[in-house]
Parts: sequence; C-alpha cells; structure tokens
Amino acid sequence: MLETVPAVHKIFARISGTYELVNHLLTFGLDRYWRRRAARCAVQPGVASCLDVCTGTGEMAVSVRRAGRGRVAVAAVDFCEPMIRAAARKYESLDIAFQLAKADMLPFPDNRFDLLTISFAVRNLNLTRDNLNACLVEFRRVLRTGGRLVAVETTQPPVSAIRRLLHFYARYVVPRIGAVFSGSGPAYAYLSNTIPRFYSAPELAEIMRDAGFTQVQYRYLSFGIVAIHEAVK
Ligand SMILES: C[S@@+](CC[C@H](N)C(=O)[O-])C[C@H]1O[C@@H](n2cnc3c(N)ncnc32)[C@H](O)[C@@H]1O
Repeated sequence: MLETVPAVHKIFARISGTYELVNHLLTFGLDRYWRRRAARCAVQPGVASCLDVCTGTGEMAVSVRRAGRGRVAVAAVDFCEPMIRAAARKYESLDIAFQLAKADMLPFPDNRFDLLTISFAVRNLNLTRDNLNACLVEFRRVLRTGGRLVAVETTQPPVSAIRRLLHFYARYVVPRIGAVFSGSGPAYAYLSNTIPRFYSAPELAEIMRDAGFTQVQYRYLSFGIVAIHEAVK
C-alpha cells in the first residue's frame, strides 16, 4: 500500500526539486496568496514564536516571518531532508530555524510556541484518522495555553458544481501536469488522489475539537477550494 509514512517521505524526496514550480503552475500562482492570507490570520498581536510544521521548502515559514515583520521567531520542521535542505538553502538570509522532524514527534518541550502553522500538509498527515489525531495532539502539546493552530488546506467546496470541478481537476489534470513537470507520475497520482478524499471544513473542525482544540473556526478562500482553520489550545 502506497499510503505509509515511508512512501509519503519518498514521494516528497523525489519531487523536492520541482515542488514549488509545479504548485505554482497547478494553482495559477494562488498557493502563494493562500499562504499569505493564512500568515496574516496567524500573526496576531502578542505572537512572538511560531512553529511551521511540514514546512516543505519553507514558503509558509517565510510568509509568517514576513507577516510578523521580523518580530516573530520562526522554527520550521519537515521529515524530508531534500525538502528542508532546499528551504534552508533558499532562505539562508532569513532568520528561520529549519530542522528535520516528524509531525507526531516534535523535538520541542510542552507549551513552547504561541503559534503553530501548517500549510497544504494536513492531508498528508491523514494516512489514517488516528495518525492525524496523533499529530494534532502533538501540535497542541507544543503550543502554550491560549496558543493558536492555523492550518491552510484544500477542502471540499460547499457548492457542488465547484466541488465537482475541483475533483475533475484533481483526478485528471493534476497528475498529468505533475508528471510532466516533476518527472514523477506516481507522486502526483498519490497527491491528487488525496484531494477528493479529504474532509470537508466542518469535518476537519470536528477532528480538531476531538484532539482537544477549542474555538475552532474556518473560512473559505477562492470559492471554497481552500480553507483556513484556526483553533486555540
Ligand atoms: C504538500 S507539502 C507542503 C509543504 C509546505 N508546507 C507548503 O505549503 O508548500 C507536504 C510536506 O509535508 C511533509 N510531511 C509529510 N508527512 C510528514 C510527517 N509525518 N512529518 C513531517 N513532515 C511531513 C512532506 O515532506 C512535505 O514537505
């Protein structure tokens, strides 16, 4: 079965060199806008420290750093070495502490961060619902009481015509464009397959509540293709 942690790790290792380019192509550049919006929601007065989990090539970590005008200390983790190496190389001049770590085993003490962000990766943690829950519990552990989780992710658009269009795009367009530009058909076959199967925004909110978060809210972006979830420890 493809959906195991080592398989996901291998997929991202294989596509690390073209990851950003393919994202920008597939989303017509909107992925940058979605991260910026999430970072603006995330960085509120009083936020001094942030952990970006599943940071990939570091774009969300950088969005948070910029939204905080350099006043938020940002750490960022990912379990895939080629991805995080690319991030550290690209953003060497920014003061971001990139390191290797798994989302369900974060190398930080309890109550360490004011904010935890995750962009376009909750889907990858959803190998099983239990796996996702374990990661959310771990996120909650490293947040201080009153600290916030901000997650931006594709979702199920509430309007059925848009939902069908998104599923068509994910099933038939994403794997083809991904295969051509990344050279890895199976990687994008897997990634595109997770989009139609992922939770709706109300379902993900419920899962966050089950993991112990409170004041869970979400807002849709771009006709409900993407949602930003905010939750409080
Ligand atoms: C779709 S990418 C998102 C990257 C980045 N956050 C962005 O917005 O582009 C998912 C990332 O999650 C990482 N990842 C997946 N499962 C993980 C896990 N269990 N622990 C740590 N990182 C994980 C992958 O290596 C990959 O870099």
